[in-house]
Amino acid sequence: MGAQSDMFEAAFQPVAGELKQAQEIFRAAQSGDGLAGPHESAAAGHPKNLPVFEEIAAEVAGRPGKWMRPGLFLLAARAASPDGPPRKRLLIAAAVEMIQNASLLHDDVLDGAALRRRRPTPNARWGNWAAVLYGDHLIATAFSVVAEAGMPQAYPSLAGILSSLCTGEFLQEALGRPPLRVTPEDALAVAERKTASFVAEVCALGFACGDGRHPAAMEALRSYGTHLGMAYQIVDDVVDVVGAEEQEGKTLRTDLFLSRPTLALAYTLQEAPEPTRRLVPPQDEAAVAELTALMIRTGALARALSEAESHLAQARAALAEAADLAPSKNLRGLEASFAALLDALDQKRRSLVPAASAAGRNFTAQEIAR
Ligand code: FPP
Ligand code: MG
Repeated sequence: MGAQSDMFEAAFQPVAGELKQAQEIFRAAQSGDGLAGPHESAAAGHPKNLPVFEEIAAEVAGRPGKWMRPGLFLLAARAASPDGPPRKRLLIAAAVEMIQNASLLHDDVLDGAALRRRRPTPNARWGNWAAVLYGDHLIATAFSVVAEAGMPQAYPSLAGILSSLCTGEFLQEALGRPPLRVTPEDALAVAERKTASFVAEVCALGFACGDGRHPAAMEALRSYGTHLGMAYQIVDDVVDVVGAEEQEGKTLRTDLFLSRPTLALAYTLQEAPEPTRRLVPPQDEAAVAELTALMIRTGALARALSEAESHLAQARAALAEAADLAPSKNLRGLEASFAALLDALDQKRRSLVPAASAAGRNFTAQEIAR
């Protein structure tokens, strides 16, 4: 975990100063302190004397996060044009993180999660109603921050991200209902909508925002983001099954309890349909342990990690293509930073292989179906 966040920090080193400024904008807009300039009007809408609202605002502003999506956005903007940090980039980066936080606030409500970023979730502390409403307010704040950036092309882009997040969650809910019929293609479609499309879009928008006038390079960078996002979600889903809460700092096993249609679950269903349908959703901890064992002995978790590895390889290829296509050398100069994110994720992926693979044991067909 520590090593992985160090690698994230190294990846974003070229934009560390800009990230810091974006974080200040995030805190100021969110706390209602206001921003210098025309954005004051949005801050004026920040209510006073609403204790729960103010407490959640302080919690969301203060809790640590990876800032992966705004970091990628700023790296992509720098790759298109390295000259200075125009304020519009910083504003969009802050807005991107607001949308990310809003989605996590809502996600923790949907998952009934009690822990995130090593702290009690807002839904656990203040209730679902407060977490949902504050998430909505954050989205409104994000759009008022974008208004100050004066970058109209960011609106359809951010609206598309929001829409994809919501439809991804709808799809996830629909596919998780009994009778369980989720296929690997279904599971990949969920990961694409709820994670990969966001990561891909911030790469493309960043490149466009940095005055990137090369659509082919921008599309290749978008493809890098898609594959990074796919690998990220698939690995995250395996963490949910075999990870340790103390290490991850968030509530795990929710995917199992809520019949989430993950890739590993789709593979388990393919290999052992009867036992999987009997165990999903698990009724207690013993059933969760049984389902986890089934996911290991069918090879489903290991297969999911292989699929993540394949997405990481495709992300590397897309990155190289983007660097070849980009008219300036800037992207080539930042290639190592984009690649460092793939390395960090691959390190996480590798760390899960032993727990996912039953220490190399081969199971017979009868053992799998047991
Ligand atoms: C994390 O998934 C959640 C997402 C990637 C997307 C959540 C999106 C929504 C709840 C839709 C509504 C959002 C907005 C902003 C309107 P996960 O549960 O697999 O990851 P986790 O392990 O980090 O909880
Ligand atoms: Mg969740």
